[in-house]
Amino acid sequence: MKTIGIFYASLNKTTVGIVDELEFFLKKDDFKTFNVKNGVKEIENFENLILVTPTYGVGEAHAAWMNNLKKLEDIDFTGKVVGLVGLGNQFAFGESFCGGIRHIYNIIKKKGAKVVGFTSIDGYHFEETEIIEDGKFIGLALDEENQASLTPKRIENWIVDIKKEFK
Ligand SMILES: Cc1cc2nc3c(=O)[nH]c(=O)nc-3n(C[C@H](O)[C@H](O)[C@H](O)COP(=O)(O)O)c2cc1C
Repeated sequence: MKTIGIFYASLNKTTVGIVDELEFFLKKDDFKTFNVKNGVKEIENFENLILVTPTYGVGEAHAAWMNNLKKLEDIDFTGKVVGLVGLGNQFAFGESFCGGIRHIYNIIKKKGAKVVGFTSIDGYHFEETEIIEDGKFIGLALDEENQASLTPKRIENWIVDIKKEFK
């Protein structure tokens, strides 16, 4: 399998812990990890990608992602396989649960990405979210504030799924 590029942003470090867990389940594979506060240009160098963002504002991605959406539009995602990971809080922000990944999804999809790793909404208790297509989340939705105990298994299953799609 080709090297995986993991790109993330984080304000309060919860996402940093999630990236550590992703890396743990990828320890037999090659990956490189980047903080999006340093930009998104390196995305061009990978065909296998995992893009990770917590949700802020009301259903927005982390500011580093939001500030780089225009640059993301300049990247050709044709031939790239992408898994999205969103963090959120389904009870405190139940009307915009994990909405951050929607902003990234819309752009990379338009630019030709193959987005993989859609997941079941079973077991979550949000009121509304923008991240459902065909009855599934458009990526992996994680809630460290309310369902942290479910996270390791969710990540493990998701990694198995997306690795089947990676190049
Ligand atoms: C001001 C604020 C706004 C938030 N808005 C949302 C939201 O709209 N939807 C959601 O699901 N979670 C929301 N969250 C929850 C965060 O996404 C969640 O706590 C996440 O784990 C933070 O990740 P980080 O520690 O890596 O920054 C919000 C949190 C804060 C503090």
